[in-house]
Amino acid sequence: MFISQEVINQHLSKPIFGTLSEAADELGLETYLIGGFVRDIFLYRKSNDIDVVTVGSGIKLAKLVAKKLGKNVRVTVFKNFGTAQIKYKQYELEFVGARKESYSRESRKPTVEDGTIEDDQNRRDFTINALALCLNKDRFAQLVDPFGGIQDMEDLTIKTPLDPDITFSDDPLRMMRAIRFATQLGFDIFPDTFDAIERNKERIKIISKERIVDELNKIMLSPKPSVGFVLLDKTGLLDIIFPELVELKGAETKDGVGHKDNFYHTLTVLDNISKTTNKLWLRWAALLHDIGKPATKRWEPKHGWTFHNHDFIGMKMIPKIFRRMKLPMNDKMKYVQKMVSLHMRPMQLVEEEVTDSAVRRLLFDAGDDIDELMQLCEADITSKNPHKVRRFLQNFKIVRSKLKEIEEKDRVRNFEPPIDGNEIMQLFNLGQTPMVGRLKSAIKDAILDGVIPNEYEAAHQFLLKKAEELGVKPASLESDKDNK
Ligand code: CTP
Repeated sequence: MFISQEVINQHLSKPIFGTLSEAADELGLETYLIGGFVRDIFLYRKSNDIDVVTVGSGIKLAKLVAKKLGKNVRVTVFKNFGTAQIKYKQYELEFVGARKESYSRESRKPTVEDGTIEDDQNRRDFTINALALCLNKDRFAQLVDPFGGIQDMEDLTIKTPLDPDITFSDDPLRMMRAIRFATQLGFDIFPDTFDAIERNKERIKIISKERIVDELNKIMLSPKPSVGFVLLDKTGLLDIIFPELVELKGAETKDGVGHKDNFYHTLTVLDNISKTTNKLWLRWAALLHDIGKPATKRWEPKHGWTFHNHDFIGMKMIPKIFRRMKLPMNDKMKYVQKMVSLHMRPMQLVEEEVTDSAVRRLLFDAGDDIDELMQLCEADITSKNPHKVRRFLQNFKIVRSKLKEIEEKDRVRNFEPPIDGNEIMQLFNLGQTPMVGRLKSAIKDAILDGVIPNEYEAAHQFLLKKAEELGVKPASLESDKDNK
């Protein structure tokens, strides 16, 4: 990866950098671009988050920069941290004074002192994130790379600038960041750095769930998320932050019959789906689709290994996992639950004969998420046997066309039964009793099973007949009786 000075100069030729340079020189402050923005120039990744470090007051510099950028440009000052932020056009600029930091073992609160640019680079997480480009006019665009960050980029290596035990102990989240960068960028973690993660893994416990999940989501959104999960597992972090996934590991054999390792199967499904969607929650559904398997695993002499009901148990596990990990407890969670609970259904349609009724039920239960459910099911085919794969894909094709045909004919996706609970209560003079629900479900089932069409009159007739069978009298007859 060779980047010429010309390419760097070209990046820094944008007017915003000229303004930064002018302000820095006017205040006589040694000032640099640092961190992810500099790294991303060398990785040809576009970034609009610009971190500026100055040997002196970052706030003072930010204020002058804002003034130069125009009347309406505002500075947000975080006095406690000694930092300031400017949002300008597409850019988000962060200003900070160069610091020397040290952290106590018990908390994340560092003691901060003013420092030199080198002190500041020392306290950063990885060599590739410690690169600085000078902004002062006399050294404009000069690279400061004291830890061989450029070399590490060429070697595709994630490495801490200092002794990794110190870097990770200063901020244990960096252990996850190392794995996240390795996953996003396709880099390896330097052996010393990797060993330190193993040694310091317990320290992840002092980090907030929100920060951990933030990193996990970045891993999830990487081109090949399995890389991150394998690293999390190998370092021992996964066992601490996500033990349910570790439970999926292992392939047992009994009487010569084995079952697949559900951990690696899950990761293959996750990678498969990541090739077809960037939707985070569909990827989460892939990660969790078999999460109920360990709890439901049985050896049945006649059938071998079984995981009956793992879809149902898995669905039940989702809220607990989401709550603990501080993932959103809203419609996103409900979506993942739905996907997990339905992930076996299309496959069952393949194995059994595809009846209109079964297809209607699936359409009704999946609603608008039916296409994504099919996507998940196709990603779930991880067999190494090409004949099997071809057969499953062919069968799913049949299911898909059947879904299309039934949906066009019956429009049952997201349908509401034509007679609702209130009307049933009025018709039969019923209060809020279980009978109302029973009659309502009977109508729904009759429509889904194709006994009656999805129309009001047919539903009404069916309801009267069903009620009679169950000994429920219409309100008109009831009042006749009262009048006698
Ligand atoms: N940094 C650090 N330790 C952390 C977080 C950040 O040393 N725990 C430093 C790194 O130098 C990093 C910079 O702060 O490059 C900016 O951090 P951040 O914006 O979180 O990450 P980026 O590296 O910019 O990457 P991304 O935007 O992908 O998160």
